[in-house]
Amino acid sequence: MRRTEIKQIQQADKVDYEVKVNGWVRTFRNNQFIALNDGSTLSTLQVVVDREQLDEATLKRITTGACVSATGKVIESQGRGQKYEVVAESIEILGDSDPDKYPIQPKKHSLEFLRENAHLRFRTNTFGAIFRIRHNIAYAIHKFFNDRGFFYMHSPIITGSDAEGAGEMFRVTALDMQDLPKDEDGKVDYSKDFFNKETNLTVSGQLEAELAALALSKVYTFGPTFRAENSNTSRHLAEFWMIEPEVAFNDLNDNMDLAEDMLRYVVKYVMESSSEDLDFLQNRLIDEEKNKPQAERSPMPLKEKLQFCIDNDFVRLTYTEAINILRNSKPNKKGKFQFPIEGFGADLQSEHERYLVEKHFKKPVILTDYPKDIKAFYMRMNDDGNTVRAMDILFPGIGEIVGGSQREERLDMLLKRMKEMDIPEEEMEWFLDTRKYGTCVHSGFGLGFERLVLFITGMTNIRDVIPFPRYPGNAEF
Ligand code: 4AD
Ligand code: MG
Repeated sequence: MRRTEIKQIQQADKVDYEVKVNGWVRTFRNNQFIALNDGSTLSTLQVVVDREQLDEATLKRITTGACVSATGKVIESQGRGQKYEVVAESIEILGDSDPDKYPIQPKKHSLEFLRENAHLRFRTNTFGAIFRIRHNIAYAIHKFFNDRGFFYMHSPIITGSDAEGAGEMFRVTALDMQDLPKDEDGKVDYSKDFFNKETNLTVSGQLEAELAALALSKVYTFGPTFRAENSNTSRHLAEFWMIEPEVAFNDLNDNMDLAEDMLRYVVKYVMESSSEDLDFLQNRLIDEEKNKPQAERSPMPLKEKLQFCIDNDFVRLTYTEAINILRNSKPNKKGKFQFPIEGFGADLQSEHERYLVEKHFKKPVILTDYPKDIKAFYMRMNDDGNTVRAMDILFPGIGEIVGGSQREERLDMLLKRMKEMDIPEEEMEWFLDTRKYGTCVHSGFGLGFERLVLFITGMTNIRDVIPFPRYPGNAEF
């Protein structure tokens, strides 16, 4: 007999038929009621065991964490909380689990404890919900781009270019660390390394995506990126996934429209596809925030927040306008910001971004036209010679979720910026070729995948929305 998934039993919405269900025991009550979960859905299936029929030895092996297979008839449930249950005719233990040793007991565990047991946390309601939603977000992103004629571009993960300047890089080498080849000056001789040069893990696929966009017009990347910054925060990972669309003929306004459309589309898709999991996470959040003072609680329940994001246009303003708001804000005047805002040129910290979004506008915000000095070399220079066509999207509870720009398509301007920023021209010939041969206006952005998962699930620590987080001091599993 083929196995039926618990989700299928719920969706079939009928009774009086035989099924075989496989899954992991969450609880076993009164030696009679198994709460079985197979991950296909949040809900557990109640399997009713006939104590008289089942031998004592098997009964004893039905423990929390054990993997069992039950065959029996689907009937309408007598109990509360579920529509259907299965009356077991036979039970087979597929994998035992010692109830005294199994770390995931049927009680509330802290997120910190579960992070240390990340290999087993998939088996909890919370992480089951998070990782099903994570999948749905990834699928929605691919669907959004595919349906609009974009091509998925695979940018390299090992890169020989370090010009992006988005962050500190992790070196990739096959050299023997105990016996490094040296050149005449006593420096490590990378010409003897695997690629005959220095290589690193990529911090962004953008520069390669630009090359593809100036031929295929509309492309996007969706891959892992790596940053060796020592940022020990609830918003940073050393290994995270990024989505980077790049579009020929798009200016900054088109770029912002694309980002807004994509974010709204994805949130809407997940609201429809993951309703049950979102309800669970919403209630979890309400429960968790009960002990917090009112001011620290989320202003809206999770689903309302997501709906709000779908229904409302994001506020668009320039960096300079934002600086004026921040300079005159209460927390700035009262010295409440850790980094006080004095004027143009200040790099915005998370506290400033969150003030704008959560306190001032109470909406997602897009800031544009940042000072050139705090942005990358490839962003298009404005006529003022001082600001660039950058855009950052700021989200409530998150801060920066998207960073992007219109690209500098004019060769002379690009070369000038590279010179100012000490970026060696000879290493960037391949990039400069797009500006030499058939250059055009183009734009793109990078969306931090985990930051979006964080926003949609209402979780507060980025380490809880990726299966195996990497951060300073941690690369377990
Ligand atoms: O702003 P960033 O550094 O932009 C770039 O890398 C550009 N090349 C993107 C582009 O224009 N194609 O990173 C983009 C986004 C950020 O807005 C943030 O959401 C996320 O990536 N991000 C991180 N997410 C988790 N952990 C980190 N350490 C992150 N650093 C950036
Ligand atoms: Mg950024």
